[in-house]
Amino acid sequence: MTVYQATASAPVNIACIKYWGKRDTKLILPTNSSLSVTLDQDHLRSTTTSRADPSFTHDRLWLNGKEEEIKEGGRLWTCIREMKRLRKEEVEDKSSSEPKLSTYNVHICSHNNFPTAAGLASSASGFAALVSSLSHLYSLPVSSSTLSLIARQGSGSACRSLFGGFVAWQMGSNPSGSDSLALQIAPQSHWPDIHALICIVSDDKKGTSSTSGMQRTVETSSLLHHRIKTVVPHRMETISKAIQEKDFDTFAKVTMADSNQFHAVALDTEPPIFYLNDVSRAIIALVVEYNRLGVEEGKGYRAAYTYDAGPNAVIYAKKENVKEILELVVEYFPQREGAFKDAFGLFGGGGKVVGKL
Ligand code: DP6
Repeated sequence: MTVYQATASAPVNIACIKYWGKRDTKLILPTNSSLSVTLDQDHLRSTTTSRADPSFTHDRLWLNGKEEEIKEGGRLWTCIREMKRLRKEEVEDKSSSEPKLSTYNVHICSHNNFPTAAGLASSASGFAALVSSLSHLYSLPVSSSTLSLIARQGSGSACRSLFGGFVAWQMGSNPSGSDSLALQIAPQSHWPDIHALICIVSDDKKGTSSTSGMQRTVETSSLLHHRIKTVVPHRMETISKAIQEKDFDTFAKVTMADSNQFHAVALDTEPPIFYLNDVSRAIIALVVEYNRLGVEEGKGYRAAYTYDAGPNAVIYAKKENVKEILELVVEYFPQREGAFKDAFGLFGGGGKVVGKL
């Protein structure tokens, strides 16, 4: 008996130009393009195994050992349905000898290699790994950008985790969403010098989820309209060029400015959303001062902070400065006991650990 089973992994990505707002909540079409760095596979990733079998009575999914409900019309349901549709259209309709896997139910098992409690978004790596494993299971002859159209419908940011390195999610303009996809701007090997340090400021579950927070921002923030019309298109061009030219100064300035503006639109939401806390703000002050000294010494910018929908900091830096930044962070924010156990160092190998602060 043939076993139809496949496993795939996908890493977490951290945006430099933030996705915040949907113009279509069902298809997950964003109000602006975004750009991220995919962290390397060794650290934060989801691994997913899918199996199709004619004896399965319904589709089922386990996340970290616990079964999740696949609600009809929900995100998981949509991704699985879309992957089965691709299998039918791209494989079975074209060759009658292929087994009709699209008609079998699937069992899917997914694990994150980082503690869910760490407060780091796992939906991006999770949906990217799900789509990737089904694409292997179904032997789909399609590109990662095509798969990103489906991962996007699981969680917007997931579309970017299908690529490594520096990745753009183009917002697109088609109401069907057919051009709202991810593209690789440059592979990690183009600029292997860039590292990301993740500082776990708090592992509390965040107060306002990205999904509901961004919708409230779309409905109530006037600043968001300025951001999506005027600011982001220009920043997408500037940061893409900075990546091509390995211009860390510009990369850092745009990344920090965009994190600041994302948190400004969160604050401009009614009622306001606060994702940063005092420790997050103190890390911002530390990075600002470190860069000021860098410029004074003729070395330019040496670090870039960015924050998602929570207080944890990600600091991008060139490899040569990682050790010094780490020492500074640890000096100014002494570790609590046992702090290192759920902390990570990332990207490009040789990353160091930054503890819970
Ligand atoms: C702040 O992708 O989690 O991390 O599409 O509703 O699932 P949904 O939202 P999600 O939002 C991520 C928001 C962000 C910025 C980003 O990753 O670009």
